[in-house]
Amino acid sequence: MADWIPIALGRDVPDGVTRAVIVDGREVVIWRGEDGVAHVWEDRCPHRGMRLSLGFVRSNALNCLYHGWQYGAGANCLRIPAHPDLTVPPTIRANAYAAAETGGMVWMSADGASPAPLLPEATPVISLAIEAAPERVLAALGSSTAHPIATLPGAAGTLQLGWHRVHAAKTMLHATGAGADIAAATAQLRALRQNLEQGAAA
Ligand code: FES
Repeated sequence: MADWIPIALGRDVPDGVTRAVIVDGREVVIWRGEDGVAHVWEDRCPHRGMRLSLGFVRSNALNCLYHGWQYGAGANCLRIPAHPDLTVPPTIRANAYAAAETGGMVWMSADGASPAPLLPEATPVISLAIEAAPERVLAALGSSTAHPIATLPGAAGTLQLGWHRVHAAKTMLHATGAGADIAAATAQLRALRQNLEQGAAA
């Protein structure tokens, strides 16, 4: 897995919401506490494996839907409803990735060994799934998979395109653009998708 990967537009994960994402075959959940901070964890409750993306956010904690185990922002389990008087051992914790938010996107890193990129704020345009390999998508954008961001000039203004690999034949693009005409930029990206998907089918 690459170092820092943009996995969603920040706008698409409002306060108090969970969102399931597949990143390079891994199921992850993005959730945002009511304090506005986004977290990226493995989408799996350490208790019995329920998807945490099906859970719910209260204040700044994520609650599993199945038995209600509650995880705090540090990923440690705070509360087990069936044992309300238990002091939960610190070893019970969700599997958290390093997370950051920059350039209008939520980013994750498997280890957070290097600092997250620092990008200027940008207007979110759209996230788009393309049924084509990332290598083809990035080549069509005049870039390569070595870079987490590609640019796409157009009449609608220059777009910054974060991307992540869903699996070998599917790519997610996350488009932002300072002052972009959102309707025109969205149409431009949909045309790009159509070309790439038709090329894949040919
Ligand atoms: S599976 Fe999550 S609390 Fe039981």
